[in-house]
Amino acid sequence: MNHHLPEHFRRMAESYIPHSPLYEHLAKNTADDPELLALAESAAGDPASNLFLAAAHSLLLEGKPHALADFYPSVSKNPPPESDPYPHFHSFCLENEEEIRTILSTRRVQTNEVKRCACLLPAFGMAGRLSEKPLALVEIGASAGLNLLFDRYRYVYGNGNTLGDERSPVEIRCETRGATAPPIPEGMPETSSRIGLDLAPLDVRRPEDASWLEALIWPEEYEYRAPMLRRAVEVVREDPPEMLRGDALDLLPEVLSTIPENTAPCVFHTFTVNQFSEEMRERLTNILAEHSKVRPVYRVSIEWIYSERPLLRLAVFNGGSEKERVLAACDDHGGWIEWRE
Ligand SMILES: C[S@@+](CC[C@H](N)C(=O)[O-])C[C@H]1O[C@@H](n2cnc3c(N)ncnc32)[C@H](O)[C@@H]1O
Repeated sequence: MNHHLPEHFRRMAESYIPHSPLYEHLAKNTADDPELLALAESAAGDPASNLFLAAAHSLLLEGKPHALADFYPSVSKNPPPESDPYPHFHSFCLENEEEIRTILSTRRVQTNEVKRCACLLPAFGMAGRLSEKPLALVEIGASAGLNLLFDRYRYVYGNGNTLGDERSPVEIRCETRGATAPPIPEGMPETSSRIGLDLAPLDVRRPEDASWLEALIWPEEYEYRAPMLRRAVEVVREDPPEMLRGDALDLLPEVLSTIPENTAPCVFHTFTVNQFSEEMRERLTNILAEHSKVRPVYRVSIEWIYSERPLLRLAVFNGGSEKERVLAACDDHGGWIEWRE
């Protein structure tokens, strides 16, 4: 048994507050349940707790009948029973052990949250202004590529700023916090190309991949996040961006070398490098620094592993060295942005 697993589930339980009291409860109890921990060990994707909970959620969303379903607002329209859901979760997982094991060994945690684009947008605008060139976007850990099409969506910020096509089926609302307003560009940053890199790209034209994205949404947030996800999926189905399968660190040098000179390479990643080892994170920085000996490279990221809150960063690599700025703190799912500069 992986000795870190109980501690992992306990830590993840904390992270589900306040988004999902149900997942907090299930993860906390799983941490002390040897039978379910043994099952969760098949989880190849990181974080294991998210993958395990999403595996059970996907079977419930498919319509597997069980008393557990009554506790999931994403599945049942009735108020959840007041009794403890854990015994039902335990029996559901063991009754469906084989299917859960298959999901754990074939799926990854690939939540593709389109609202994060509202936080990325000001940083793309800054990269565009600094480079004075159209951006050649490369997304590391692109999942289904929904965020590569950021300029097809409509944005409404809490401070009254709006941007994007009014007729877009995807309208993203983002609260602005703090004393300084984020610099929302007047027009969409110009983009010359977009490529997504992922170990296992999801293809939303395949119904099972689109369903997996829905299973990754926390049950209490399903009602408002799933419809937005479905609308973004429709946009991407009509015009899917180019996606390359493989380890981003192996693919990136070649991808960067094919970007035309009259465009600015802009590599971005959100909620992805927590799935990297420390050595991989270092390698990524080195690849960008190496390429910047040829021309400047812009790196935009929203990641949470280095800080209490997810932070939006913009780094400019030039002549082999890096200058990084922390631009803003962000909500996990792009619900708000607090500009820091
Ligand atoms: C949690 S998802 C985030 C998806 C998207 N960036 C977002 O924020 O909506 C992380 C993604 O990173 C991918 N990933 C993890 N390690 C990777 C690697 N070494 N190379 C390429 N993709 C990777 C996973 O397959 C997954 O799709």
